[in-house]
Amino acid sequence: MSITSDGGPQMAPRLLRALRGERLERPPIWLMRQAGRHLPEYLELRAANKSFMDFCYAPAAATEATLQPLRRYPVDAAILFSDILVIPDAIGCPVWFETGEGPRLEPVATAEDIAKLDLTKLLTRLEPVYETVGRVRGALEADRTMLGFAGAPWTLATYMIQGRGGDREQARKFAWQHPDVLAALLDILSEAVALHLDAQLRAGAHAVQIFESWAEDLPERFFNDYVVAPTAKAIARLRQMQPDATVIGFPRGASHRVGAYVAATGVNAAGIGIGGDLAAARAAVGPSICLQGNLDPICLASGGAGLDAEIDRILAAAETGPHVFNLGHGVVPWTPPAHVLHLTRRVRGL
Ligand code: CP3
Repeated sequence: MSITSDGGPQMAPRLLRALRGERLERPPIWLMRQAGRHLPEYLELRAANKSFMDFCYAPAAATEATLQPLRRYPVDAAILFSDILVIPDAIGCPVWFETGEGPRLEPVATAEDIAKLDLTKLLTRLEPVYETVGRVRGALEADRTMLGFAGAPWTLATYMIQGRGGDREQARKFAWQHPDVLAALLDILSEAVALHLDAQLRAGAHAVQIFESWAEDLPERFFNDYVVAPTAKAIARLRQMQPDATVIGFPRGASHRVGAYVAATGVNAAGIGIGGDLAAARAAVGPSICLQGNLDPICLASGGAGLDAEIDRILAAAETGPHVFNLGHGVVPWTPPAHVLHLTRRVRGL
């Protein structure tokens, strides 16, 4: 309990309480990519801002994009409108978007390339992002949670090595051929992630999520050395600066390894992707770690009786421990907003 300025007692917002291990009568809900292209008002705002990265660095536009879904849906959280690729962009690995093709980066290939990355630029370059966090937090009702985020070191390294997304074979090849160079890159990224998350918490985020979008199908030693260890390092470093930092980890596609991931990284909550088994994950993490997920975004976009059955399945699973209702991956652009409204109202019991 904390005391508000008017002297009345005020509980932490519901979603934050769940992330910290409290079991609520109804699970709180937010959705990955709840802002963005499924909303007509986003497409309009986006059309007025040519480059996507510039959009991320424009506090007025990014604040508006963050708040748009909150006006439509009874979600429990705002997620900062930004991108995981602002970290590489800010430390000297420029990022741009080719229309219809996704992100492009100037690839890093050698120890010399990595030596040129400059962590000292991170916080000044990303100042507009922290300003956005502050503006959103200032506009938020007391019962809603402000979430910040970062990409995990391995996922960021994968983009930086390949210069793009795709099938990730180039990143795995690099990992087998140049483990020492990769280790140096992951060290820089662990520090960058910690600094970026600390700055978001200082600017007003209640909690943060670490997106490990590319945890799927890794050899076990890669998972341990490149997913778990650098994430654990980033979180330990973050907690030197913010001892009470509340962290959600989302090792997408690796829910069968979530027990080891949670134990070694120290996250408060773990995201479970589309293919994950909530009962098995609960057994693996124990009764007090919060789970988050795992509705198929295509089920949400499809709607109908299939959606209701899936909502009820997840609500039943959520009775076994602290749970945050979410998707197993982001909202897809063709999702009708009416389906999102239906989902959020049903989960909230409205
Ligand atoms: O609502 C939210 O979730 C907040 C904003 C957010 C975005 N990207 C906005 C965005 C968040 C949390 C992300 C995370 C992100 N970005 C991830 C991790 C989650 C995941 O999807 O696995 C990754 C891998 C990225 C990298 C990225 N950014 C890609 C691959 C793309 C292109 C593909 C796509 O969906 O368009 C982006 C662009 C991007 N990031 C858009 C948005 C709204 C679309 C760009 C546009 O509006 O023109």
